[in-house]
Amino acid sequence: MAVRTLKDLLDEGVSGRGVLVRSDFNVPLDGTTITDPGRILASLPTLTALIEAGAKVIITAHLGRPKGEPDPQFSLAPVAERLGAELGRNVQLAGDVVGTDALARAEGLTDGDVLLLENIRFDPRETSKDDAERESLAAALVELVGDDGAFVSDGFGVVHRKQASVYDVAKLLPNYAGELVAAEVDVLSKLTDEVTRPYAVVLGGSKVSDKLGVIEALAPKVDTLVIGGGMAFTFLAAQGHSVGSSLLQEDQISVCKDLLDRFGDVIHLPVDVVIADRFAADADSSIVPVEEIPDGWSGLDIGPESVKRFAAVLSGAQTIFWNGPSGVFEFEKFASGTRGVAEAIAATTAKGAFTVVGGGDSAAAVRTLGLPDSDFSHISTGGGASLEYLEGKELPGLAVLERTGE
Ligand code: 3PG
Repeated sequence: MAVRTLKDLLDEGVSGRGVLVRSDFNVPLDGTTITDPGRILASLPTLTALIEAGAKVIITAHLGRPKGEPDPQFSLAPVAERLGAELGRNVQLAGDVVGTDALARAEGLTDGDVLLLENIRFDPRETSKDDAERESLAAALVELVGDDGAFVSDGFGVVHRKQASVYDVAKLLPNYAGELVAAEVDVLSKLTDEVTRPYAVVLGGSKVSDKLGVIEALAPKVDTLVIGGGMAFTFLAAQGHSVGSSLLQEDQISVCKDLLDRFGDVIHLPVDVVIADRFAADADSSIVPVEEIPDGWSGLDIGPESVKRFAAVLSGAQTIFWNGPSGVFEFEKFASGTRGVAEAIAATTAKGAFTVVGGGDSAAAVRTLGLPDSDFSHISTGGGASLEYLEGKELPGLAVLERTGE
């Protein structure tokens, strides 16, 4: 990327300057307990470097999708606490986004202090489609860091959003790519520019419609495309199988048929599935070939024969990108497929392959299943962002750094 980096900013000197950092702290919560702190941990290198260099660090981030007004269930309070524990210092949480409390706290910062603004999506201007509205929020963010402030874009998971704290603010301040953004782009570019073959992509997750863009972009480039999860049933229906009550996007059957016609030689689909009589952790279940899914039953996982075949095709790969679980891994009974696929990918990592987990649900699956991060070469913090990057789409949060960062 032709962008300025954190190192450039540190070389310029940040001691005593206000630095606004956009992080992605959209972490999964169970009540107020953070169940996967991956995104918080990934933000530490940039924040630590700025703190040690004496910057007055002001962080802006979102959590969930509140409706443009304060909503306590989406407060960043649990994040402030965890971040403080990880950094070993007090992280103040502003009571508002860019209001009087944020302003007063920002003015009171001394070198090396850290202030986290409340959930940026509590302000409706953040996600507004109106440029002027977003720009007015961006201007309010700039006010917090003052005239000699700087902006560090480090929320890789959100760079595909054209939002005030991601895109517009970068146009108003000297901007820099943080360590996380730089590292993610470095890894993902290895999946697009200089791939070591054989190259395998493993897709899963519920909706096939969410993955059509990435299938279109990657299928012509890969040697193997393994498809599991809920999205596989629309492909199985396209092959003429009856899928019972499994997840099915009927309006996408013809699209899947077309994909199978064009890329059938690289696409691998499940041959057996674990079916359930209802969507529940304690549902009755059994394993059936894909030709025999009974009416009224839903496939909630791929079966053991599918895992065996997928593992066999993945074992020779030199590069693997994985996005989307193979089944409902949150229910122990339906977690074996995802575990099997994850272990097959881990085995190729051990043999020296370059393996990337594409954020979101797949990263959550790795951690829920208790697999060590070191089983994979890289676990991306970006779900939608990494998919859009691989699709070759322009990501507004990166494009703005490239356009204004020279
Ligand atoms: C994510 O979780 O993928 C990012 O934080 C972006 O969140 P969003 O999909 O709500 O914009």
